[in-house]
Amino acid sequence: MSTIEAVGWSASGDALRIIDQTRLPGALVELTLQTVPEIVEAIRALRVRGAPAIGVAGAIGLAVVAEAAALVAPAGFDAQVQDAIEAIRHARPTAVNLSWAVDRVARAGAGTDAPMARATRMRAEADAILSEDRAMCAAIGEHGAGLLRDGMRVLTHCNAGALATAGIGTALAPIYTAHRRGVALHVYADETRPLLQGARLTAWELMQAGVPVTLITDNMAGALMREGRVDAVLVGADRIAANGDAANKIGTYGVAVLARAHNIPFYVLAPWSTVDVHAPSGATIEIEQRAPDEVRTFHGMPSAPALVPTWNPAFDVTPAALITAIVTDRGVHHPPFTFR
Ligand code: MRU
Repeated sequence: MSTIEAVGWSASGDALRIIDQTRLPGALVELTLQTVPEIVEAIRALRVRGAPAIGVAGAIGLAVVAEAAALVAPAGFDAQVQDAIEAIRHARPTAVNLSWAVDRVARAGAGTDAPMARATRMRAEADAILSEDRAMCAAIGEHGAGLLRDGMRVLTHCNAGALATAGIGTALAPIYTAHRRGVALHVYADETRPLLQGARLTAWELMQAGVPVTLITDNMAGALMREGRVDAVLVGADRIAANGDAANKIGTYGVAVLARAHNIPFYVLAPWSTVDVHAPSGATIEIEQRAPDEVRTFHGMPSAPALVPTWNPAFDVTPAALITAIVTDRGVHHPPFTFR
């Protein structure tokens, strides 16, 4: 079982604590963050990443900023909190968990009573979001474990594990749950260009937990499937539309097409907080575009002409038609998907 705590409160209780995921797997470094620019930078730079984890980070971050404002400058509380809400909520656009969590904490702090009382309610709400995320991961693990059989070989893309949540992950949760029960599984982790979340993070956390894992580059998935070496695909999601279209790390769509071509079940696993009932389909999901240098370099080293134009969407949308089932903390949802 994974014991990683990717995001939470600092030991002193007055800061957001994260594992700096840009340093993995070379170094396991924790950061404590207290200001809005620090929190926004950490989310944008993917120091904390994964839809549920950035939701929890946004919630705790906002609560930390509100409490500091109530202590130091209560007269400016409303203005400071409003600025923090705007900045943190928009740090990354695709994962609905971020705006969902920030809005929950903001609502908890609404009112005209004393700033410290409002900040205390915001802390309690952020705390609830943290515990709920852990519970949602555990529930996804239980529901998803029912899809796994002894000896299965599972392919995953990006990192939807403990590092991406406050708990045991989403796509990796059933794997941890089944592994703990003695079910033999083997995971193939896609490297996940351009930022290598699969290589740096998924391979690392599965090895920490003693789950057998083989790393492949993204362009090997088709050949692996053709050789009959993949029994199921498990991926996470950043936003699931009401019709089941699911945005996830760029490359997920290609894996889904390959899985369909090889008759392999393709599962999307996410907490209910990733379901956006206000997005009727994937077409309405905003896809984050990231800096060209992420494509022009490989692990910090130049790998292309310095000025070559790039296209660098961080996510793609897998149409519901390619998804065998969506697993949330509420259970296993089968098509046709109509989330409300
Ligand atoms: O850009 P990232 O690393 O934040 O992208 C993460 C993913 O795409 C994950 O698969 C998704 O957020 C689900 S994490 C449980």
